Amino acid sequence: MSDDTPHDIAVLAGGLAHEIRNPLSTIGLNLELLAESLGGTEPDEADDRPTARRKRMLRTVQRECGHLSEILDAFLAFARAGEPDLKEADLNRLVREFAEFFRPAAAAAGVRLTLLPAADLPPVRLDVRLMRQALLNLALNAQQALVGEGTPLPHIEVATRPILVGPAGGAVELSVADNGPGVPADALATMWDPFFSTKPGGSGLGLPTVRKIVEAHGGRVHCESGPSGTTFRIALPTAR
Ligand SMILES: Nc1ncnc2c1ncn2[C@@H]1O[C@H](COP(=O)(O)OP(=O)(O)O)[C@@H](O)[C@H]1O
Ligand SMILES: [Mg+2]
Repeated sequence: MSDDTPHDIAVLAGGLAHEIRNPLSTIGLNLELLAESLGGTEPDEADDRPTARRKRMLRTVQRECGHLSEILDAFLAFARAGEPDLKEADLNRLVREFAEFFRPAAAAAGVRLTLLPAADLPPVRLDVRLMRQALLNLALNAQQALVGEGTPLPHIEVATRPILVGPAGGAVELSVADNGPGVPADALATMWDPFFSTKPGGSGLGLPTVRKIVEAHGGRVHCESGPSGTTFRIALPTAR
């Protein structure tokens, strides 16, 4: 899917169906095995396979149900990302509130989160809820890129700054940087496609949702990545 084509509904539906099929067949298989292990209608027809095995099958069903529900949540977030309710707002305030919320979880994962809010940042028009979602998606990706990668001093930096975009007007930039291993080279182009993921159990909807939210704000998002880290930069037009 190229950057500029609107997402084709049939392609999206196909992607969603594909994501749902695997957990669904795992659930079906485990329920079948469970039913078999419980035997027929007579109590003594049940075989005495150890309860531990049945519990394991039940846990698999529970896990896959959780996974299905995550896929649907991510898909709904993606679907709803295009209709922002824009109001003039302070991006620094959003960023500070986000940091307060995210920092404890990051710290628990061994990741330090720092903020670099620019002084005198011009106001922008924001759907605060949607932009918080975009920031969360980027911060989660950053954290996931850091955890388990053996990066010394894993670190995420969230920054804002005014930028110049020529005579047409100003813009502000919101960036999320990590010092992780970088985006795999063969994923740089495809990582924006719905359902593309290099993670086991990844929805692959985080970045497409970010892009949709940013573009609905009249902004742009791009990524710079190398072996010493990754930075996502969101540019948003100023309100006045
Ligand atoms: N900060 C990052 N560092 C390294 N790779 C990243 C980063 N952010 C995104 N990626 C890559 O982009 C892919 C798509 O991200 P995303 O759309 O959020 O889906 P998901 O997180 O479910 O895999 C990830 O699987 C990963 O390969
Ligand atoms: Mg993600």
